[in-house]
Amino acid sequence: MCGIIAYTGHRPAIPVIVEGLKKLEYRGYDSAGLAFALSEQIHLYRASGKLEALEDRLTSPIIMQPTSGIGHTRWATHGLPNEQNAHPHLDSSGSLALVHNGIIENFQELREELIKEGHQFNSETDTEVLVHLIAKGLQKMSSFPEAISWALSQIEGSYAFALISKDYPGKIWAARQASPLLLGVGTGENFVASDIPAFLQYTKDVVFLEDGELVEMDANSWQVYSVDSLKPVDKQVQHIAWDVQAAQKGGFKHFMLKEIFEQPRVIRDCLAGRIDRKKEQVILTELDDLPVPRRLHIVACGTSYHAGLWAKYLLEKWAHIPVEVEIASEFRYRHLVLNPDELVLAISQSGETADTLAGIRLAKEKGIKVIGLCNVVGSTVARESDRVIYTQAGPEISVASTKAMCSQLVLLYLLTLYWGQRQKVLPLDVLSKSIHTFSSLPDILETELPRLREKAAALSQEYAAARSFFFLGRGINYPLALEGALKLKEISYIHAEGYAAGEMKHGPIALIDPNFPTFALALNDELLPKVKSNLKEVEARGGKIIALTHPQTDLKVDHPWELPLLWGPLNSFMVLPALQLFAYEMAVYLGKDVDQPRNLAKSVTVE
Ligand code: F6R
Repeated sequence: MCGIIAYTGHRPAIPVIVEGLKKLEYRGYDSAGLAFALSEQIHLYRASGKLEALEDRLTSPIIMQPTSGIGHTRWATHGLPNEQNAHPHLDSSGSLALVHNGIIENFQELREELIKEGHQFNSETDTEVLVHLIAKGLQKMSSFPEAISWALSQIEGSYAFALISKDYPGKIWAARQASPLLLGVGTGENFVASDIPAFLQYTKDVVFLEDGELVEMDANSWQVYSVDSLKPVDKQVQHIAWDVQAAQKGGFKHFMLKEIFEQPRVIRDCLAGRIDRKKEQVILTELDDLPVPRRLHIVACGTSYHAGLWAKYLLEKWAHIPVEVEIASEFRYRHLVLNPDELVLAISQSGETADTLAGIRLAKEKGIKVIGLCNVVGSTVARESDRVIYTQAGPEISVASTKAMCSQLVLLYLLTLYWGQRQKVLPLDVLSKSIHTFSSLPDILETELPRLREKAAALSQEYAAARSFFFLGRGINYPLALEGALKLKEISYIHAEGYAAGEMKHGPIALIDPNFPTFALALNDELLPKVKSNLKEVEARGGKIIALTHPQTDLKVDHPWELPLLWGPLNSFMVLPALQLFAYEMAVYLGKDVDQPRNLAKSVTVE
């Protein structure tokens, strides 16, 4: 996720900006840049790679002159992570410089229109459109706020940005919509940043900007306006008492918790630009020139493997594509029979998992095309796959994967709809019901997450003495049961096994006794009666049961945990965070190192 810092004040701005960018490094990035206005000119410095590469370029003596400027760390979404795509971006005349975080969904149409009007583009980014639009606005309007408001009315998507002009050194304009941005208020200096650590060493006085707000500031003053009406908005300055470490976690105790709570935003970002509501179509242009596969082989490890297994149920049901899902470390050593009309889909958050990469290489050796579903732009999976779909979850810092799986599920769901439409087999109402539910899902989830956490915390105290757990589910909930078990074991070190509920009677049930609890997924779907019977078998052996369920399922277990009922498989987006939070609260209660569990690494680059 990109990081923004803008400074205007009395100090040399560039060291403040570079320091601020360092504090935002935790967000992940692949290139960086900064700009300032001096002697009626914008000065621009950018570099791909780490911040040191940018610092190496800051050798000119003029670097210490400006007392205002903007800086950015970029986490690539549109266009490769290279210098040309790094922010800031300039308008055609070089008068304005802008840094941006977010996704401009309609950038392609806007870009084509602006090019026809004579604007010159220098990058592949969606961001560049915004600075050109503001420049266009300035030709028609007399003030910056007016021009910005007009430009923002043209775009669809999310943004947080900061803008400077060569004609007004010392002035900064910034605005946000669905991407984070806040104002740091100092004495004779002001800041705008994506996150508090960027300016925490200078001020703890913060103004939290809301969506649809625009700020105009210089060293001694700041004013917030509504983007739409340009009416001034009264804002409270809040004094925060965080230290830098706490601030990087956005006030959450652990990165894992922060990442679980980011999932509503992740769903919004994954959907951005992917659904054409007018044409009722899913947009996956990355795959338009590939035939729909006769058979799909999904290859992945760990949590990503569970996401693949989840997708199998959907792809077979709605796209009529036979799917095999395989753990990458097995796939790579099998004597595979692959046909040219089949595809391999490699799923990887990090894009660097050695076994998954070996699977990709094997498929390519056999002449099979590979689609990579991956979170990190420019990673090896992304580079080696024939096509890449990026999951846009933002950097995941906690070792236990949470929001990345959520993003994988969204994209796999969209992939199913996309291929189902191309195959002309997608049941008629599925697309409209999916669109309808997806549009309200992030808000519902945002409201539910604190409640889920509370319930998870209460249950963790009740069950903290357990040494083993079964996680049971059927159908689409079976892969989620596997994921629930994986999360619990990796961060709380409690032994847990995920099973298809119907498989219990074939052996595992021998383990059930009053000290061996079961965590069941007993949702209100077509398999509920079957799951209920399986739970009766557990109960009959004295096993305690926690069950994620829905209202009116009439489920009689020790601890029913009711979730709000959504439509169809989208219920998974409520089940997943409940499982994650249960594992999280259990680990916290047991005093484990949640973000860095023993023996585990975030990116498994060895066999
Ligand atoms: C579990 C977890 C791992 C990863 C696995 C694959 O919380 O994080 O199981 O899912 O190592 O990693 P990626 O998706 O990066 O290939």
